[in-house]
Amino acid sequence: MTSDPAEVTVGIHDLTFATTSLCLTHEELARHTGAPVAKYHHGIGQTAMSIPTEDEDIVTLAADAAAPIIERHGSDRVRTLLFATETGIDQSKAAGVYVHSLLGLPPHIRVVELKQACYGGTAALQLACALVRSDPTQKVLVLASDIARYDLDSPGEATQGAAAAAMLITAAPGLVELSTPCGLFTRDIMDFWRPNYRTTALVDGKASLDAYLDAVDGTWLDYRAHGGLPFEKLRTVCYHQPFTRIAHKAHRRLERAAGHTSTARAIDAAIAPTTTYNQVIGNSYTASMYLALAALLDSDTDLGGDDIGFFSYGSGSVAEFFTGTVNPTYRAHLRVDAHQAHIARRTAISYAAYRELHTRALPTDGTPHEVARRTDGRHRLAGIRDHQRQYRAVHP
Ligand code: CAA
Repeated sequence: MTSDPAEVTVGIHDLTFATTSLCLTHEELARHTGAPVAKYHHGIGQTAMSIPTEDEDIVTLAADAAAPIIERHGSDRVRTLLFATETGIDQSKAAGVYVHSLLGLPPHIRVVELKQACYGGTAALQLACALVRSDPTQKVLVLASDIARYDLDSPGEATQGAAAAAMLITAAPGLVELSTPCGLFTRDIMDFWRPNYRTTALVDGKASLDAYLDAVDGTWLDYRAHGGLPFEKLRTVCYHQPFTRIAHKAHRRLERAAGHTSTARAIDAAIAPTTTYNQVIGNSYTASMYLALAALLDSDTDLGGDDIGFFSYGSGSVAEFFTGTVNPTYRAHLRVDAHQAHIARRTAISYAAYRELHTRALPTDGTPHEVARRTDGRHRLAGIRDHQRQYRAVHP
């Protein structure tokens, strides 16, 4: 294999995701809020959102997402595990170290946690690509895992959700080869944030939408200035999807920045295949754009050889636009049935049950606490002892 970074093709070799065991439908939410359900289904483009059981968290979701990747490819040559999240469980220890242990990975791996709101998964992906370009024999496991929580009875409540995406980054990737030009855009803005003492995010909804759309322009101009592809070369774009309707607005904005216009129907046709998973899972912060990619690859659309765009946005704010080329043989690597079954297995709960789960909190005073088994995932939080989280693999 060549060691000239300019000649090495690098990107996503495998991609999968996990979500929680429960969900709340927007029909059920609408019964409580009194909002017309069309506001949720059409206005924001959401029909359900994943809700974690008490024994599910970012670690169990990430371990559930990563396990099939390790089972398929082994851990040989995996030298780095990058864990992106904005709902971290510890100020010091990387959540990925727990995943490393749950999956029985070998010790000679660097494990790090990254944070910049929903952008963290893309930071991890770009770092992973740089590591593989510098040594194409290495592989990097990228995990992006989050639980999106807003206050009860707030406008943000309809845009919650939870999921983890897992990606194996290698040379000569089977799914998507990532290109090096990228467009970057950073601006200090308080559109969405979560101080350490809060379990739910604070958000200025209107400001966050404007900031997201301004970042579409900002990243696109920078991407083109750095030699990126013209808009007409892109088959479609996977956007960060805090709610799926925003992807349609973003595509309209991108078109305008690129000097194009098309009909709403054409935009819907381009974007709809990227939204099917997020529409029923909800916001998963760092994982969201990668669930959009999973949905696109799993769709009936034949993408072999096509160039696709990615727009990653993390409030606060940092954003990036980049592109990749889909491998002509990508279909051989997909996990369509497993993904669909994983979503279909969730139990829909009542609004009252959701509200009770939302208000529950783990002890913070060191009191030993056991957590009953509720998840139907492969890993669970079993309790907290001496301020230490106890994780277990679930044996069927
Ligand atoms: N039928 C069809 N559509 C309807 C409708 C009906 N009966 N009633 C309302 N709508 C439409 C509205 O017209 C609106 O669409 P447009 O924006 O196209 O006009 C849409 O439904 C939403 O209605 P509102 O603006 O009135 O909704 P809201 O005030 O309840 O808040 C929200 C919506 C701002 C997205 C809120 O849910 C929120 O604050 N969410 C969290 C913040 C967020 O997701 N921001 C995204 C950018 S930031 C980011 O990307 C980072 C991240 O992950 C958080």
